[in-house]
Amino acid sequence: MTSDARVLAWVGYERAASVGPMSTVLVVNGPNLGRLGTREPEKYGSTTQDELAALVMEWGSQVGLEATLRQSDSETDLVHWMHEAVDNGWHVVLNPAAFTHYSYALRDACALVTAAGLTLIEVHLTNPHAREEFRATSVISGVATATIAGLGIDSYQIALQAVAHRVG
Ligand code: DQA
Repeated sequence: MTSDARVLAWVGYERAASVGPMSTVLVVNGPNLGRLGTREPEKYGSTTQDELAALVMEWGSQVGLEATLRQSDSETDLVHWMHEAVDNGWHVVLNPAAFTHYSYALRDACALVTAAGLTLIEVHLTNPHAREEFRATSVISGVATATIAGLGIDSYQIALQAVAHRVG
């Protein structure tokens, strides 16, 4: 190895050492969001759940995060996924969908995430405050790190950038 190559190898090593392991972000979509693309597209857009899953991975890697998307209509799954995030030290981007407005069980599970020092960003495609009155209440916001709403699928990208900014 030439001395130049040795210097470059050392710089590479130091950079890798200072960057450390990639943080993981679990992106979770709640009930009815599996229908993205065909569900009221005038409100929720035309991007499908599968397309969003690919975008989430891409947006995550652009900011140095390992991000994966899961979706379930079941409150039990969402609660268990919050527990899994706590146990594994994963940050969370969560669209709780209709559970936003009334699920104390999901709120309590989200509280465990932020109490563990992890970032949990609540996201919405629409702006719930500009819609029916019942949507103005979020039982999740009070235990979330932040809420990003009303920007369509950009809400997810901005949430991932926010996580990267905080953990970077
Ligand atoms: C939503 C808003 C909720 O009120 C609604 O129940 C959803 C989607 C949004 O992303 O805009 O399912 O969370």
